[in-house]
Amino acid sequence: MSAPQNDRNDQEGTFDFIVVANRLPVDRVVAEDGEVSWRRSPGGLVTAVEPVMQSHDGAWLGWDGAPDGPEDHLDESDMTLVPIALDADEIERFYEGFSNATLWPLYHDAVAKPEFHREWWDTYVAVNRRFAERTARIAAEGATVWVHDYQLQLVPAMLREARPDLKIGFFLHIPFPPSELFVQLPWRRQILEGLLGADLVGFQRAGGAENFVRLVRQRVGHRTQRDVVHLPDGRTVHAAAFPISIDYEGLAELSRTDEVSERATEIREQMGNPAKLLLGVDRLDYTKGIYTRLKAFGELLEEEELSVEDAVMIQVATPSRERVDEYRRLRDEIDRLVGRINGDYGRIGRPAISYLHSSYPKDEMAAMFRASDVMVVTPLRDGMNLVAKEYVACRQDDDGALVLSEFAGAADELKQAFLVNPYDIDGMKAAILQAVRSQPRELSRRMKAMRRTVREHDVVDWAERFMTTLRAE
Ligand code: G6P
Repeated sequence: MSAPQNDRNDQEGTFDFIVVANRLPVDRVVAEDGEVSWRRSPGGLVTAVEPVMQSHDGAWLGWDGAPDGPEDHLDESDMTLVPIALDADEIERFYEGFSNATLWPLYHDAVAKPEFHREWWDTYVAVNRRFAERTARIAAEGATVWVHDYQLQLVPAMLREARPDLKIGFFLHIPFPPSELFVQLPWRRQILEGLLGADLVGFQRAGGAENFVRLVRQRVGHRTQRDVVHLPDGRTVHAAAFPISIDYEGLAELSRTDEVSERATEIREQMGNPAKLLLGVDRLDYTKGIYTRLKAFGELLEEEELSVEDAVMIQVATPSRERVDEYRRLRDEIDRLVGRINGDYGRIGRPAISYLHSSYPKDEMAAMFRASDVMVVTPLRDGMNLVAKEYVACRQDDDGALVLSEFAGAADELKQAFLVNPYDIDGMKAAILQAVRSQPRELSRRMKAMRRTVREHDVVDWAERFMTTLRAE
């Protein structure tokens, strides 16, 4: 992507709708020879927010994913991109440190031990302030600002202080933890007060909103009434659930194209046309439960409930946060486990697990979803998990089976999945076998219901519900 660049000061006070997220919808990629290119950044936020952008004079403010980037505006077709530069120290303390080694594990049930460092917190505050100041400069009078996710929880209050005229919404894409965990955070009160700067605080699940309101009452001492917080100055803050979704029509259409159908057939052939193809697709993250899932599959092979002659698995693990220690450790553990399972149960030309440490474009993902009989999504904790919804959207023939963790937000909606406790390896093995052995009629009944749910609650619906509620505040 190449776009004309503007002077960073020439659009002050002009935008009436601003998305503020840690990442821009594009990543700046610097090659070894120094050449710069732009790549669409991962995640569903871009598709989610695009429709809202089209009907507004919108801007998207965020980091470009690399150190010391330019801060000039970039003109896109539907919106202006406003980059915030982070230097190497800030990336280490704000992004890898406080965001991804403190908040990320703490908010995901502390499945890895959260680290608390005061220097990381100081940088988190400083970077949040930079995001808030830049937003305050470019927002038009009375503009609407939508702040996203755990990296920017202080922005709402900082922004309100500078610009009380703004309408401010916040959406947390990851789980909001129960108070027993949240109270470990040495800066718990500052985070709650940061979020209270918004008019509307959105969560993936109703439980997240309830946790937040309870904590505000207990720890900040404000009066609360159901899902509304009453502040001493008379202002109110509303907390509610807005389960995020996918671009159902776009993906369903892509999955029906000849190219994707042909590629799906080819994938099955390349896998040796097994009777059953299992699939896992995740960012390589310890919250995703990849290790136990592969272990469960390995045990099914060991116990001869399955054999590589009739069931093999593809596991896609997209590289993620590779400089954070816990992610490096996880990668080594999974490498070892895959090696062991393939060594024990694979045959020449037929590994038990085809392990792909890589990311793929949308059409290749759609082909994998179409090619697979059983999709296994078993996070230990997950805000939503859009992969589960993407699989469903691609199963136009109402076949295929979804094995889904109870601890993913998606389980609230995809009730016809084969639901599992991802800590219960025997339970997971039983669910995988049930999915593999189910009759087509049974699978069709389940998939039809799930597809209807995702079709009726797509990402456009999500953004509209959030924006309509925010406007009414
Ligand atoms: C999760 C978070 C997002 C984040 C994404 C990718 O979905 O909720 O905020 O952008 O993971 O992680 P990364 O660290 O690469 O931005």
